[in-house]
Amino acid sequence: MSDPRPTPIPDSLEQDNVPRHVAVVMDGNGRWAQRQGLPRTEGHGAGEVALVDVTYGALAVGVKALTVYAFSTENWRRPIDEVRYLMDFNQGLLQRRQHELHDEGVRITFSGRRDWRVPRRVTRNMDEAAELTKRNKRMTLNIAFNYGGRAEIVDAVQQLVRDNVPANKIDEKAIRSRLYHPELPDPDLVIRTSGEYRISNFLLWEMAYSELVFTEVLWPDFRREDLFEAIEVFQRRERRFGGVDQ
Ligand code: IPE
Ligand code: IPE
Ligand code: MG
Repeated sequence: MSDPRPTPIPDSLEQDNVPRHVAVVMDGNGRWAQRQGLPRTEGHGAGEVALVDVTYGALAVGVKALTVYAFSTENWRRPIDEVRYLMDFNQGLLQRRQHELHDEGVRITFSGRRDWRVPRRVTRNMDEAAELTKRNKRMTLNIAFNYGGRAEIVDAVQQLVRDNVPANKIDEKAIRSRLYHPELPDPDLVIRTSGEYRISNFLLWEMAYSELVFTEVLWPDFRREDLFEAIEVFQRRERRFGGVDQ
């Protein structure tokens, strides 16, 4: 299947200044469902359409990497039924979408911990999707699953120790190279939906200089037009990286 909803890119979006890496905290699924008198889990289900549409939007404007926060290391605190639903849902999403994404030239990767709580069948599907798409170059869709920014840094530090790196050789490069996906550039733009103004343990290391855009839109209602709008907000920002304007 190709793009089910080809959409013109607004003229006001500068196509030569598109963020290379966009990261999204897909939040507000539960509230979306509750507002319609549905169980919270229906909101997660409805988020699939948003994710696919935003992926097509990112492809259309030439974003090279899209990282999406699908399940955090803190989301295990949710009721067991919701956790179970999210495991099944994310596995199903991969099964339903991996071939379509592969046809579009998308490489699927994952950031996060594979601890004992993630069912084997889910990790098997993750491996299958990653293997199928590993040679694709058009865009990377990086799914943050059982992901925590602090856990990622802890894992990198443990790897430094296993690699016997002496203290005086530990610098930012040594840490960065041990993060989950050192080959991806840091996100230029981080979007959070649903009117929450926090980071919730997402990409702590990588977002040191990201532009942050918050929107009230709940994730299941988010579409590529909202992505384009966030990119235009990004384009109006002035990035200084600690320096001064020339
Ligand atoms: C985001 O939506 C999805 C996950 C965290 C898995 P929520 O489930 O957090 O929705 P709200 O924030 O409760 O509305
Ligand atoms: C962040 O959303 C995690 C994901 C979107 C997967 P949460 O809904 O879990 O974050 P908090 O609890 O509101 O900070
Ligand atoms: Mg939430």
